Amino acid sequence: MINQPAMVQIDRVSKHFADHQVLDQVTLNVDKGQVCIIIGPSGSGKSTLLRCINFLEPYEAGSIELDGEMVGYRNLDDRRLRPRKIIARMRAQTSMVFQQFNLFSHMTAVDNVAVAPEKVKGEPRREARARAQGLLEKVGLADRMHDYPGFLSGGEQQRVAIARALAMQPKVLLLDEITSALDPERVAEVLEVIRTLAGEGMTMLVVTHEMTFAREVASQVVFMDGGRVVEQGGAHIIGQPQTERLATFMAR
Ligand SMILES: Nc1ncnc2c1ncn2[C@@H]1O[C@H](COP(=O)(O)OP(=O)(O)OP(=O)(O)O)[C@@H](O)[C@H]1O
Ligand SMILES: [Mg+2]
Repeated sequence: MINQPAMVQIDRVSKHFADHQVLDQVTLNVDKGQVCIIIGPSGSGKSTLLRCINFLEPYEAGSIELDGEMVGYRNLDDRRLRPRKIIARMRAQTSMVFQQFNLFSHMTAVDNVAVAPEKVKGEPRREARARAQGLLEKVGLADRMHDYPGFLSGGEQQRVAIARALAMQPKVLLLDEITSALDPERVAEVLEVIRTLAGEGMTMLVVTHEMTFAREVASQVVFMDGGRVVEQGGAHIIGQPQTERLATFMAR
């Protein structure tokens, strides 16, 4: 068998905010088609790690490769050296979805999904909209295509945001607590979409507090604390932590 590089390869990434170390030598590999669940207490660096993968944050040490290509930038000088076009192209390979859906309120669902392929990738409008419609069908919103976000529930808005992320045809999807702002009865419909994507082989890094869901879809679980990866293993570590710190975290 040929040894393929991981889809996401994070190697000893460290990052500070002033004198506060938020990421401390984080190493993590996610293979193509894997779902990596990231858990950990508030302030442990989960969002910062996803933001480094998506070029939203610089980091001082280490490297991040996506499908064999270097992403992110180690310092601000690096950032100036990289043409904006390259950054835009590479950023598009790792779409991110946030807790707050951040849809454009003055655009219908289908326009929200089609706008980036059209404006960033220069796809013809008709093609972008046709694909957007397909994606909205996929997330169960075939009948809400022409609604504005204000007329959609939180769960529906979040599913539009997922469709919008998929519209860029990313290699990796980064999901940061995407159900945390939703009413409990709306959480299931969003998780169902993620379950389907996992089944289709989408590579994902998922920060979540939904432990039942995490156990079900995880190819790998990473527990972070204080900017470090403290424990890492298969889905079973959620039920059978090997470290005291993960056990304490799970008990809460
Ligand atoms: N722009 C910033 N400037 C300074 N400190 C920051 C900044 N962004 C994050 N931090 C700090 O970095 C640490 C890690 O934050 P991060 O948001 O990555 O944690 P998290 O694990 O996602 O937490 P939560 O579960 O609350 O979302 C925190 O201590 C936070 O206060
Ligand atoms: Mg966070």
